[in-house]
Amino acid sequence: MTRPDRQAQLALFDTALEMPGHCENVELEPGAVVLRAFAREEARALLAAIEGVAEVSPWRHMSTARGWRMSVAMTNCGEAGWISDRTGYRYDAIDPQTNRPWPALPGVFAALAVRAADAAGFAHFAPDACLINRYAPGARLSLHQDRNERDFGEPIVSVSIGVPATFLWGGCTRTARPRRVLLEHGDVVVWGGAARMNFHGIDPLQADAHALTGNVRFNLTFRRAR
Ligand code: SIN
Ligand code: FE2
Repeated sequence: MTRPDRQAQLALFDTALEMPGHCENVELEPGAVVLRAFAREEARALLAAIEGVAEVSPWRHMSTARGWRMSVAMTNCGEAGWISDRTGYRYDAIDPQTNRPWPALPGVFAALAVRAADAAGFAHFAPDACLINRYAPGARLSLHQDRNERDFGEPIVSVSIGVPATFLWGGCTRTARPRRVLLEHGDVVVWGGAARMNFHGIDPLQADAHALTGNVRFNLTFRRAR
């Protein structure tokens, strides 16, 4: 299907999914940008590193403070890992499943995060935490703010690998109607500054296939936690 056809079809169904050109970066608002295909070249190296992390700190479905099992499988690397359990959300240097420190941030991860932050106008980003999310078909992340970090002056760098997903970009209140932007393999979203506390999320992953990941989507979220 050509792009105009696809857009006409979307208009027909009155969906708000935005389909800009594959390689056009999108400014969501000041301080928030989608860098198209920014990580595509290192995707294989990123996937190998993800596998390495998961061998040490395995995938798990964390539970929310209210006791719901999260549909997204997660692990972490870096000096601090993001954890959710019945007592709430926090960062911890120790993986509660292994009782050992999270694996170190792979070099290929750190280099990409710094390069992407820089490209988005956030110089000197020094991430100490990487949450790795694995979405199987149907997995989703409802609208939330990233607010467990110490310094909200630091940006967020979020990398998409594998099956495409619909990113929800909300406002600074939960009730603001979110924009819907398709994130494809290699896309990187960076948000900080005035956009740092915006609500965001991921719609349920559609059944789809990607040559490198099968029916799965991976997301790397880099933060300065401490
Ligand atoms: C997140 O908000 O932690 C992840 C977003 C994504 O999977 O793209
Ligand atoms: Fe988030």
